Amino acid sequence: MKKVYIETYGCQMNVNDTEVIFAILAKAGYERTEQMEEAHLVMANTCSVRDNAEQRIWGRIEVFNQARKKKPEMLVGIVGCMAERLKDKLLETKKVDLVVGPDAYRSLPRLLEAIRPDSPQIDVLLSREETYADITPVRTDRNGISAFISIMRGCNNVCSYCVVPYTRGAERSRDPHSIVREACDVFQRGYKEVTLLGQNVDSYLWKSPTETVTFANLLARVADISSDLRVRFATSHPKDISDEVIDTMAAYDNICKHIHLPVQSGSSRMLELMRRKYNREWYLERVARIRSVMPECGLTTDVIAGFCTETEEDHRETLSLMEEVGFDWAFMFAYSDRPGTLANRTMQDDVPADVKNRRLNEIIALQNRKSLERYQGWIGKTVTVLVEGPSKRNPEELCGRASNNMMCVFPANGYKPGDYAHVEVTGCTSATLIGKVV
Ligand code: SAH
Ligand code: SF4
Ligand code: F3S
Repeated sequence: MKKVYIETYGCQMNVNDTEVIFAILAKAGYERTEQMEEAHLVMANTCSVRDNAEQRIWGRIEVFNQARKKKPEMLVGIVGCMAERLKDKLLETKKVDLVVGPDAYRSLPRLLEAIRPDSPQIDVLLSREETYADITPVRTDRNGISAFISIMRGCNNVCSYCVVPYTRGAERSRDPHSIVREACDVFQRGYKEVTLLGQNVDSYLWKSPTETVTFANLLARVADISSDLRVRFATSHPKDISDEVIDTMAAYDNICKHIHLPVQSGSSRMLELMRRKYNREWYLERVARIRSVMPECGLTTDVIAGFCTETEEDHRETLSLMEEVGFDWAFMFAYSDRPGTLANRTMQDDVPADVKNRRLNEIIALQNRKSLERYQGWIGKTVTVLVEGPSKRNPEELCGRASNNMMCVFPANGYKPGDYAHVEVTGCTSATLIGKVV
């Protein structure tokens, strides 16, 4: 059997895509390895969302080629979003034998057959239909407790800073029956949690002659599999998250009370330039609605500092929105100009790097303070934790997530991975709840 080694970069969807790739390659006689040196095929599943994500991959291509010096028959492949964006440019380096975009993974066996020393292979066709619905991913999680399930691919929004619609193509939803089947299957194999993935899950829509399934309907169907199976999802879009989705979350104990709701900016002027299709007031209204129905719902977000023309005033509005909402956690980035996007073609990346970084640092400092406050707010309360495994620091302790997605560590007390533990929170850091089983 030949061996394949894959490194995964970027979002959770890429993690799941790597699992699909392993499944496709298994049929072509490739077995998974975690040791690059012993692999016949070495790949990186890549991300293009920010320039530094791509710079990292260029570095990995050098490392792969170093490894190849010791093993000349080794093949090097670049797949995923950067393969889609750069296409032949990757082949021109002569350091890559295979370039495959996110919708072309079914061609991998055929392309691998066709590779010759002087003829690398490429397939970067995007599709309107491909959802890999019939492929059972080879799970790569280490705990056997929590699985990712892609429910849709691509994105139909045109946020002006974002490269994803170009690398992943048009939005398409996956057949709900195949999603429910996959969730049942992982549950039967001992998994206790599924995370439904899409760039904008709220716009999930499946229509057939006999049924129309919205995201809220899909959530309910997956939650109905078993009250012992937890359901999570990401990412929600503020313009599309409906009352129906919020009410469905509230109606099911096993749908986790956590929403990742990227705001990007607190300034309505910036949101307009970003083409996010909501403004500050709309966002705050959605948060108010979520909290009125589910007061304890965890809220996390993404923020971009220093987008085109951003002023100090715009920046202060981002800080004040973060202050007002009080997110549990946030992914925070300095704006990175991406070739081909609307912002790249029509706007000036005019906020100097030092200003971007200063604003980003202010955003991070504010969020760290807020995170600590939010975590401290749970001290004295009891949370239900799905045990994932031993904690990293102390093997006598277990870790797992509360419904609101906060990581929680506590003395094992006979509990094991896959159990639900009721944990009283006795302390915290700004990223972890600390407690004891009650
Ligand atoms: N579909 C999701 C996010 C996809 S990308 C959504 O709509 O929110 C993940 C995050 O990367 C984005 O939320 C954004 O905060 C960030 N991001 C995307 N493009 C970026 C860019 N050009 N520069 C900096 N951050 C960016
Ligand atoms: Fe990018 Fe916007 Fe689509 Fe998210 S919704 S993937 S930010 S274009
Ligand atoms: Fe990156 Fe592609 Fe995901 S650009 S964030 S890997 S969809």
